Amino acid sequence: MDKILIEGGVPLHGTVAVSGAKNAALPVVAAALLAEGDHRIGNVPDLADVRTLSRLLAHMGCRVERGTGDSRDSVEVRVPRDVRPEAPYDLVRTMRASVLVLGPLLARWGRARVSLPGGCAIGARPIDQHLRGLAALGAELRLEHGYVEARVPRGRLSGTTFAFDKETVTGTENVMMAAVLAEGRTVLESCAREPEVSDLAAALVRMGARIEGAGTHRIQVDGVESLRPVAHAVIPDRIEAGTFLVAGALPGNRVTVTGCVPGHLEALLEKLRAVGASVVPVAGGLEVAGGGRPRPVDVKTAPFPGFPTDMQAQMMVLLALADGSSEVTETVFENRYMHVLELRRLGADISVDGRVALVRGVRGLSGAPVMASDLRASAALVLAGLAATGVTEVRRVYHLDRGYERIEQKLAPLGARIRREKA
Ligand code: EPZ
Repeated sequence: MDKILIEGGVPLHGTVAVSGAKNAALPVVAAALLAEGDHRIGNVPDLADVRTLSRLLAHMGCRVERGTGDSRDSVEVRVPRDVRPEAPYDLVRTMRASVLVLGPLLARWGRARVSLPGGCAIGARPIDQHLRGLAALGAELRLEHGYVEARVPRGRLSGTTFAFDKETVTGTENVMMAAVLAEGRTVLESCAREPEVSDLAAALVRMGARIEGAGTHRIQVDGVESLRPVAHAVIPDRIEAGTFLVAGALPGNRVTVTGCVPGHLEALLEKLRAVGASVVPVAGGLEVAGGGRPRPVDVKTAPFPGFPTDMQAQMMVLLALADGSSEVTETVFENRYMHVLELRRLGADISVDGRVALVRGVRGLSGAPVMASDLRASAALVLAGLAATGVTEVRRVYHLDRGYERIEQKLAPLGARIRREKA
């Protein structure tokens, strides 16, 4: 197991490029199951979660290979005529997004056995909306021995109108993937509008699907008989970009983030401007510079285009250094403040009451050993370590590697004194 050591208090200057989006690559790779043949998916980050999904598809009988050299950002997926429609617990428990194979398996083969994802550090994260949507399309689903046992009695799913009770990103993606091969028209309402949902829809349309309205609350899908293999490059990772933008907004820093899509980051950019950072569009990206102490700003997370919950922890680091108090309200997940205890170890002054964290800004943080609890919390601890005086040791960085491609190698050229060591 690795740990990351950071000698903080060094101003960051320079340019960093973002990788492809984990949360777009996962559903697009899963969507490959919908069509027999050779798929080529580009801009796929080399992350633990992507490797887990690749192992899952291989377990089903697909061949998944990452390119080398110039095409190392691409993944080739060969999907056979028939697969073993099963997602075992040992793979699903390490990555809950594995549930994204359920929709494609039911749509193409009319049966699936997928382990229920267990609990998660940030919340209960049930999949009831996924199951309700698939049942509305005509699937029969029962929970048995920790698995979703699902089949389509009619052999083919049937178009319908379905409204989600709650905006769910992977729920929208799963049901949309199922609907593309269903008979007739499906109208999905109260859908998630995240850019990753739109990117999946774009890939599906390239495969021959008929989808309208992705990126809005109402998605219309006209089912087709079959789909063809896809060649699609996924969108840049807006959360990785956001993490580096927050690094640039820390006092004394100036960082240019290239390869990101500013339109995917508006809610964050608005808050960075509000704390007093300068945010300037530049060729191929955004330049952010932190001036003196940030101003306090209240932040409330919400589904896209609201402030992303996946940026809440990182933004809290900036507010922990503000000249005053800020209120952070987490509305998406019920337990996403695990980083607070660790930030306090670095000298932050934060109290939590239910979904609201009160962040009283301090003049500076001081380095200490800290423990990562989940993916975005670990990114926040790295940012805090960069801002703190002295050495910060971040343990359990396997959380970080799930969503950030070689983060220390990306930060070092900005001047960060950061390295990875065996724990
Ligand atoms: C996606 O998770 C992302 N993961 C998460 O990113 C992200 O935090 C989340 O969307 C919200 O933006 C991927 O795309 C792989 P949800 P997802 O279903 O789809 C509740 C990261 O750091 N809900 O939109 O699992 C749920 O409990 C990860 O990269 C139900 O109640 O999130 C939550 O409170 C972490 N029933 C809320 O809805 C359901 O059936 C939103 O969850 C589904 C969800």
